[in-house]
Amino acid sequence: MADVATHPEQSTQSGESELPILRFLTCGSVDDGKSTLIGRLLFDCQLIHEDTLESLSAESRNFGTTGGDLDLALLVDGLQAEREQGITIDVAYRYFSTPKRKFIVADTPGHEQYTRNMATGASRCDLAIILVDARKGVVTQTRRHSCIAHLLGIEHVVVAINKMDLVDFDAIRFAEIEKDYREFAGQLGIPHITTIPMSALEGDNISRRSEKMPWYTGQTLLDKLESVDVTSAAASGPMRMPVQWVCRPDLNFRGYAGTLSSGSIKPGDAIVALPSARTSTVARLVTADGDLEEATAGDAIMMTLADEIDISRGDVICTSDERAEVADQFAADIVWMSERPLLKGRPYILRCGQQSTVCQISELKHKLNVETLEHMASRQMELNEIGLCNLTVTKPIVFDHYTDNRELGGFILIDRLTNETVGAGMIRFSLRRAHNVHWQAVDIHKSARSTLKHQKACCLWFTGLSGSGKSTVANLLEKRLYAQGRHTYLLDGDNVRHGLNRDLGFTDADRVENIRRVTEVARLMVDAGLITIVSFISPFRAERRFARDRFDGDEFLELYVDTPLEICETRDPKGLYAKARAGDIKNFTGISSPYEPPETAELTLHGGSKSPEALVDDLIEFLTASGIIDEV
Ligand code: ADX
Repeated sequence: MADVATHPEQSTQSGESELPILRFLTCGSVDDGKSTLIGRLLFDCQLIHEDTLESLSAESRNFGTTGGDLDLALLVDGLQAEREQGITIDVAYRYFSTPKRKFIVADTPGHEQYTRNMATGASRCDLAIILVDARKGVVTQTRRHSCIAHLLGIEHVVVAINKMDLVDFDAIRFAEIEKDYREFAGQLGIPHITTIPMSALEGDNISRRSEKMPWYTGQTLLDKLESVDVTSAAASGPMRMPVQWVCRPDLNFRGYAGTLSSGSIKPGDAIVALPSARTSTVARLVTADGDLEEATAGDAIMMTLADEIDISRGDVICTSDERAEVADQFAADIVWMSERPLLKGRPYILRCGQQSTVCQISELKHKLNVETLEHMASRQMELNEIGLCNLTVTKPIVFDHYTDNRELGGFILIDRLTNETVGAGMIRFSLRRAHNVHWQAVDIHKSARSTLKHQKACCLWFTGLSGSGKSTVANLLEKRLYAQGRHTYLLDGDNVRHGLNRDLGFTDADRVENIRRVTEVARLMVDAGLITIVSFISPFRAERRFARDRFDGDEFLELYVDTPLEICETRDPKGLYAKARAGDIKNFTGISSPYEPPETAELTLHGGSKSPEALVDDLIEFLTASGIIDEV
């Protein structure tokens, strides 16, 4: 593989440059010539060693697409797989520098299914080069990439109108494409757009002004990259320091370590720690090289304060006059990156800087058609789709709007069961209702209500296939408890679906919502002091986990009625399995929709081998032994 990287930490050829490193990404469709463009940049900047050139010329003969000439794309398409398939498959970062500036290039794949990689590559970039094939003009990918680049906060877009050699360096063709692009981008509101006609293959307008396009008087690509001003809003924005760790070597020293994500701070400045909103003033700004008079965005420091206030990892220290927001509900744009769809109501882990909390999409307001920028109504989002959502988090988070601060306004969503990163989000604003709805304190609590009923309130959650015997066992259990003088309520899937949940069907999205609602109802009933029995198929682990987390410690018991599918199907009490097999019912659990057996059930009841009465005997014994109900 050709080695072309100059490490960014190395100084530039003629001393340190004043300009900050430019991080940019390149995106385009499969054949737009992206790799050739980057290869050309590196080649023109004379960053390719003799021996690399030799091996490149040999490789060009084997793999090249340039008829034996140097194939610059091969410099960049380092991966064997992409050479063989002729496509680029992952985000690759490359470093290079010129006497004027250092660069980091994120090279992202072009095909549609790799939008998530682009989102990953783009999140730290200041500029995007969007390649357009002069023969094809603005295509779906051009729009998609521009849209994502814009959503991810990239303010500078260079539209590289490539392969001008194949349209006879025609000024009119260039003007047509430029007009099309600007029309589309105008709707997005990208602030800085530069269009450059070029031929990466022949080196026109890359680092050398093209003689074949005298009608073009603008900058070459390299001029543009070397001169673009990307001093970020972060530097001038209000001071933010997410606390990475709290350093307490002894009782006399307490420092908060972190990197300033924006603004600047001096000893003596007033600060506020969020979310606690405790205030103090800065005492010292300690670094390995001594104390600083002032710290600015990007500085890694240890801050000490004049007062002992409680601050933990994940908190954000802000200037007291311009605070970040703290909220548990907000609207955000989300790019979905998982093969499994985003489901409204499903709990995910949200990670925003050092903060981590459980979140749910409370509303999918719309999906975005990246071609037409139309808004589409939907209940779920698929891989590579983009949508505006309302989110609710279980613990308030500290954030800024993404457009003001990418670090404090950006987050990722993680699947709780697989740990996979499933989405990337950009916070737009907090929801007003979160500010205006407060928790109303009441004087009679759950424990008082339970005590009056001489019992411990709890949620007994039955899960299992349709026909497994859940409802029969739950019903018998309630009768037994009732006979013992206990206060109970049974929430049964079929019954709740006649009222509260009559609007829901059996798609994954509807089942998630079904369980979310019944969880909240069960929670209220437990709060009322009742032994609450829930009998729902509840086929997904994520939602049962959500239900568990909504209750205190030992209040929630997952009871798995484990009856083999064959037996449930033979029983078929409502004739539904027969219909499902005949294809008359869609999404039927166990047949055409999955059931994920519990991994953490408190008790498994083998519904195929014991009678319901015997199972209830076991259950009562278990509940008594574990102190959930006392002996009568
Ligand atoms: S859940 O999956 O969302 O938890 P729930 O327990 O509310 O399901 O409802 C399941 C009941 O609905 C079943 O016992 C069955 O009587 C009926 N039903 C109708 N269609 C389906 C289906 N496609 N899949 C499962 N159950 C269905």
